[in-house]
Amino acid sequence: MKGLKGLLEENPSLKVFIYAGKGGLGKTTLSAATSTKLSSMGKKTLVFSTDPQASLSDVFEQNVFGKGEVKLAENLYVMEIDADKKINEYVNAIKKKIIDMYRLDSLPKDIEEYIDSAAAEPAMYESAVYDAMVDVVSEGKYDYYVFDMPPFGHGIRMIAIADVISKWVEKITELRRQAYEYGRVAASMKRQKLTYEDEILNELEYIRGRILKFRDILLNTKTTAFMMVMTPEKMTILDTERALEMFNSLGLKLTGIVVNQVYPPDLAKRADAPAYLRRRVEEQKKYIAEIVEKFGKYIIAVVPMLNREPKGMETLKLVAEELWSPSKKIEEYL
Ligand SMILES: Nc1ncnc2c1ncn2[C@@H]1O[C@H](COP(=O)(O)OP(=O)(O)OP(=O)(O)O)[C@@H](O)[C@H]1O
Ligand SMILES: [Mg+2]
Repeated sequence: MKGLKGLLEENPSLKVFIYAGKGGLGKTTLSAATSTKLSSMGKKTLVFSTDPQASLSDVFEQNVFGKGEVKLAENLYVMEIDADKKINEYVNAIKKKIIDMYRLDSLPKDIEEYIDSAAAEPAMYESAVYDAMVDVVSEGKYDYYVFDMPPFGHGIRMIAIADVISKWVEKITELRRQAYEYGRVAASMKRQKLTYEDEILNELEYIRGRILKFRDILLNTKTTAFMMVMTPEKMTILDTERALEMFNSLGLKLTGIVVNQVYPPDLAKRADAPAYLRRRVEEQKKYIAEIVEKFGKYIIAVVPMLNREPKGMETLKLVAEELWSPSKKIEEYL
């Protein structure tokens, strides 16, 4: 196992680390640990999350939710986006744009209802997340970006529809351009209308640019490490298999897997080890063997189950060291 250290040595142009996976396995913990490690090496690092439960605040034991970029330590910055607030701002901006474009006094009721119901879609939440990701990476202020992703919904699938949307926008843009050309003769009579259509065209191109940028962040294996978190459990193995199939169909390459919450096997070997613990460890071993067989080439690190919650810098450093340069090979957990 090469650890994050080996991964970075092999891929020195990596800038973005994305931790994805099912809920509750350790995405937030590993994101926090990764950013702690990278910043301790003197690299300016941003760790970013959109979890409405403010879990980075919990892990770092400091309330940073919805406060923008907050400096936690030398070179370590955290940003915990309030996605609901962002969606609200976005919705209001859309409403205002429509009112301005069409010079309305107020938004017709049915359009307002339509926009409000679209805003309640989970896709809207995901889109706000990705928008914010694109924003921070585009700004380029940091050496490293660590993204603590929301548990998989259909989020990652967005890169599949990116193609469709992109083609669609291209087509509309082209049609509008043609209409613009033809309409130019009559433009003096309809100048205002064309200006509005121009604005719509700009808006569409902007949206397309954002989608492509997001896709590039996700698919660029030179700069992005797309990581999955697993634990030695049946459900996680099934879930990861499904996720890998989905990634394949999307052209998304998984960079690595971190196996988290693994009981130290020596514990069960002790004479005074309770049967309960022995049983747990035996079960985990069975699943670790399955993980090695199925996903062996992806495994980058194994992080043991700590005897306390990994919260606060000091404990996070323990996780970070295992991630960075694993003290044991995965076979030693078998
Ligand atoms: N190696 C570990 N040892 C002990 N506890 C751990 C370890 N990794 C994670 N935990 C604990 O497991 C729980 C889930 O971890 P975490 O919050 O990082 O998962 P998550 O994938 O971000 O979850 P969610 O999908 O809900 O955001 C937390 O209480 C965390 O403290
Ligand atoms: Mg989390």
